[in-house]
Amino acid sequence: MSAFDVATVRPDFPILGRLVHGRPLTYLDNAATSQKPAVVIEALRRYYAEQNANVHRGVHLLSEEATAAYERAREVVARFLGLTSSRGCVFVRGATEGINLVAECWGRTHLRAGDEILLTQLEHHANIVPWQVIAERTGAKIVVAPVTPRGDIDLLAFRGLLSARTKLVAFTHVSNALGTVNPAAEMTRLAKAVGATVLIDGCQAAAHFRVDVPALGCDFYAFSGHKTFGPTGIGVLWGRPELLDTLPPYQFGGDMIRKVDFAGTTYREAPERFEAGTPDISGAIALGVALEYVMPIQAAAHAHEQALLAAATARLRAIPGLTIVGEAAEKVAVISFLIEGGHPHDIGTLLDADGIAIRTGHHCCMPLMKHLGLPGTARASFAFYNTMEEVERLGASLEKVRRMMA
Ligand code: ALA
Repeated sequence: MSAFDVATVRPDFPILGRLVHGRPLTYLDNAATSQKPAVVIEALRRYYAEQNANVHRGVHLLSEEATAAYERAREVVARFLGLTSSRGCVFVRGATEGINLVAECWGRTHLRAGDEILLTQLEHHANIVPWQVIAERTGAKIVVAPVTPRGDIDLLAFRGLLSARTKLVAFTHVSNALGTVNPAAEMTRLAKAVGATVLIDGCQAAAHFRVDVPALGCDFYAFSGHKTFGPTGIGVLWGRPELLDTLPPYQFGGDMIRKVDFAGTTYREAPERFEAGTPDISGAIALGVALEYVMPIQAAAHAHEQALLAAATARLRAIPGLTIVGEAAEKVAVISFLIEGGHPHDIGTLLDADGIAIRTGHHCCMPLMKHLGLPGTARASFAFYNTMEEVERLGASLEKVRRMMA
């Protein structure tokens, strides 16, 4: 591959060289959080060592440099999302805060008793609970679109649930638990046809393929930096700027105001309107660095991950007593599975002894697990720095686990 070769990218991620229980780390918990390239770690160090100052406030050089770097990161985010303007890109703590912001600011303003919020059974708790809370407050009702036994959204049922009552449709671009890639543009088109506002949770998509927000046609798109090779504590909510400007602010304080007077206060437009107080400056700058690292290799990295997915799926299918949960038509490299006679937590513990990190449990998707009739699954989730050798390590370790559980 011209722009990407796994052997050349691995040394960029210092943690991949460490041992776990005396074995080489096989990190397959990327859906929980991704590892960081050295350039991101260095960006954090450099900011504090050379640039640290508050943004949008000082006339001194350091503040000007910090402000320029922070705003430049916003431009990178816009490019990453396929946007020509960064004005709708709000820095938040992560996708969770982004969704809470929309629930609070848009939901409180636009939802009335009898309105419907359409979610899907694939949603993460972060795209369920904020809507439940706002539904309780406004009298709106949650409606849930089902998934097929393979883990695909039931598009016919989804379409059938849309009506003039549907005010908001909020769905995940990619399922963190099953790896399903939703037909997000088509779902958005259907939702728009009934006049609904659309929020897409892009947390699991942004790390795996190019996201083109204008092509999706949604109103809000949220993702987390830490799942996209950036630091924890930083993420992005994109909203249509003209819509954001009509919403009440989320939090109040410095930098988001136009004028403060004890007689009354006026607010700035997006994005500053939603960035009260000193933001996570170093986090935003390092996220920009992470996205710049990823963008040139995105297409080739995606192809490599799809090859890992195909190989790992075949390897795991060949293990007797192992069942893959979620075989959607289109997936990212995430494989949920069960082993007959073994609790997912035991599988996770046994793999850990071999240096293999996976996640086990309900994956913050209790309603999906209930729908599937499962307490949880074991989940291996890959990133572009994973290798075919690691797929084989996972397979061999699972065969051992299977023998112990038989
Ligand atoms: N949502 C993250 C996961 O799927 C934490 O593991």
